[in-house]
Amino acid sequence: TTVPPVRGLPIAFYGTIIHSLDVNTLEIMHNCLLIVDGDGKIQKIAKDTPQAKINDLVVETGYTPDVFPVKYLNRGDFIIPGFVDTHHHAPQWAQRGMGRDQTLLDWLNNVTFAHERKFEDPAYARKMYSACVSAGIRLGTTAAAYYGSLHGPATKILADICLEQGQRAFVGKCNMNRHSPDWYREPSAQDSLKQTQELISHIRRIDAEGKLVKPIITPRFAITCDDELLSGLGKIAANDPEIHIQTHFNEAADEMQFTRQLFPQFKHEAELYEHFGLLGPKTILAHSIFLEEDEINHIKSKGCGIAHCPIATATLGEFMMAPIREYLRRDIKVGLGTDVGGGFSCSILDAMRQAFIISKARETLTKGADPALTLHEGFFLATLGGAQVCDIDSKVGNFIEGKEFDALEIHTVDTEGNNDIGCGSVGIVTPIEDDDSAEVIFEKFLMTGDDRNIAKVYIRGSSLKS
Ligand code: GUN
Ligand code: FE
Repeated sequence: TTVPPVRGLPIAFYGTIIHSLDVNTLEIMHNCLLIVDGDGKIQKIAKDTPQAKINDLVVETGYTPDVFPVKYLNRGDFIIPGFVDTHHHAPQWAQRGMGRDQTLLDWLNNVTFAHERKFEDPAYARKMYSACVSAGIRLGTTAAAYYGSLHGPATKILADICLEQGQRAFVGKCNMNRHSPDWYREPSAQDSLKQTQELISHIRRIDAEGKLVKPIITPRFAITCDDELLSGLGKIAANDPEIHIQTHFNEAADEMQFTRQLFPQFKHEAELYEHFGLLGPKTILAHSIFLEEDEINHIKSKGCGIAHCPIATATLGEFMMAPIREYLRRDIKVGLGTDVGGGFSCSILDAMRQAFIISKARETLTKGADPALTLHEGFFLATLGGAQVCDIDSKVGNFIEGKEFDALEIHTVDTEGNNDIGCGSVGIVTPIEDDDSAEVIFEKFLMTGDDRNIAKVYIRGSSLKS
């Protein structure tokens, strides 16, 4: 397995291009010419370009117009950045949404561990991971932070598949050497650390420059890792400033209570993970539901990002609402995660819609003090916010010249310009009407669109869905 070559030829689009500049600023660029160079990087963005000027601009950019055709987007079609899934358990692919009525620790013991155990079989891993990664691409996920199972070999296969299919990914194997059934537990801290090192080396071998796939240290959570394992992982991180880290953080009442019991010496989980050297600007903290004031300051000062997984936290166990408005107010990095399979859906569009619902519940509960997320904020979380959480926002997340082109081509009208594709949700179409503005069509897609509207998926300028 090696990094797939980028397309090698420049591509150009002309039409409506939409992205976030920051959490508050959505930019809808009309009559926009976007040129992607042969290395998959955005070479030129020129909004409000009259059609008659396109050729001149192409030539100015250094190309002769006949070397590549400009793709003209129809009315109703537009380009947005690819979605970033900041929290996904690939080995839970086949158990999405199962065991919803159980508390987190019961659900892990009764449903999840038995399922993840199956990944000791490499053939099974290859089959499931292939399906999981290709579905993510089809749904518009251009970058994902994956938890594998505890198995080193299967997790290497997951990294191979991401690279083969061309998805940008962080891949980690779960570290877990205690408090899980003996048939799904690593024999020792030493063994867990060795498997982790081997996975990191494997990923750095298949993608030496980290063009697409990067390793991520993945202590499942403190409950399943003893002190020796956590400090060993902290040492790996200390010696490797490039490495990412992910864990579950203040997710559920039973989890928090048990963590406190196991680590009475720490005030809270932030202090715990910090003690072991696991908090930094490349750390992704999944969920982050119940944080104390001091803890919020802590993760902010460390520059950690939060993977908000509203489907999982509103359906597993009790209804839990992360205080996303408060995190945004404090300028803490936030993105969206599907949390497959605690989350029943692998679509970031679905996660975004659920984030709207949860934020509305929180607005009501706080009597307006925490206003619900706006459409623009939800879209930001799904794209640039997620890229910030994964610390890849200097490379992707929106369309800034020099960034790599990870993008979705959204179609809401068919090639004859008819509106009957519309925005389809479960086969039901929201019609696009003649007087709908680009803003309205964009909102219709975000609220009711699905994978059928995602006509093309580009990662590093290469089209992966045709
Ligand atoms: N905490 C520890 N493991 C898991 C997991 O697999 N899913 C979720 N949602 N929380 C966890
Ligand atoms: Fe999770």
